[in-house]
Amino acid sequence: MSAPVPLIAGNWKMHGLGPALSEARAIAAGAPAAGVRLALCPPSTLVERMSAALAGSAVSVGGQDCHPEVAGAFTGDVSAEMLAEAGARMVILGHSERRATYAESDEIVASKVRAALRAELEPIVCVGETLADREGGRTLDVVTWQVRNSLPQDLSGRAFTVAYEPVWAIGTGLTPSLADIEEVHRAIRDTLRDQFGPAGAEPAILYGGSVKPANAAEILAVPEVGGALVGGASLKAGDFLGIVAGTPGL
Ligand code: 13P
Repeated sequence: MSAPVPLIAGNWKMHGLGPALSEARAIAAGAPAAGVRLALCPPSTLVERMSAALAGSAVSVGGQDCHPEVAGAFTGDVSAEMLAEAGARMVILGHSERRATYAESDEIVASKVRAALRAELEPIVCVGETLADREGGRTLDVVTWQVRNSLPQDLSGRAFTVAYEPVWAIGTGLTPSLADIEEVHRAIRDTLRDQFGPAGAEPAILYGGSVKPANAAEILAVPEVGGALVGGASLKAGDFLGIVAGTPGL
């Protein structure tokens, strides 16, 4: 079973108007030819324009969330099919900001994963403990529970990615120790093998939370870290490409 190709994905969150597409173009222009997969997940309003701007480049475009249903009376929501039609190839699901702000349970996340598969989007499923969980010694229990319950069996044989994002490390400048990152990533890998058998070795497990050019290489070199999900530092091409340059083997 080959090691997954690392994925460095940028989550633009609720940032980005039209002029920000120049950063996406600069990222595509500086993307390595091989050895790493790159993706940018802008707000839904930019998915179609970014897909057009990056057509033919090595950078895929993704959404940041989708509704479980194909269509319906769900004001303000976007379906997986709509993202796919706009050019998305991936979708971030279960980000802690959505779990916290919109009370998204593991069951809701799993239903969104099924929607992503229905629309042929690669799900990037986020898990991660709060500071209270970590201080209470519950990190591995919380994270493996989220993996088991947010990732439906429908993922068997399909392409997907898991992102470990400790909630307390997001946007704070704080990161876990490299040993702590390794411990959680190994626990996630064991859980994936348990759920999906030998195929559980295939999905990349990304680390996310205050990744920047200065710490990317050491984090990306941690065993079982298969890439990064980058927030703030994905908004500037220079920072994002600086993180990409830390990919082992490039
Ligand atoms: P920061 O890189 O800004 O800490 O955000 C991480 C994140 O939430 C990516 O999904």
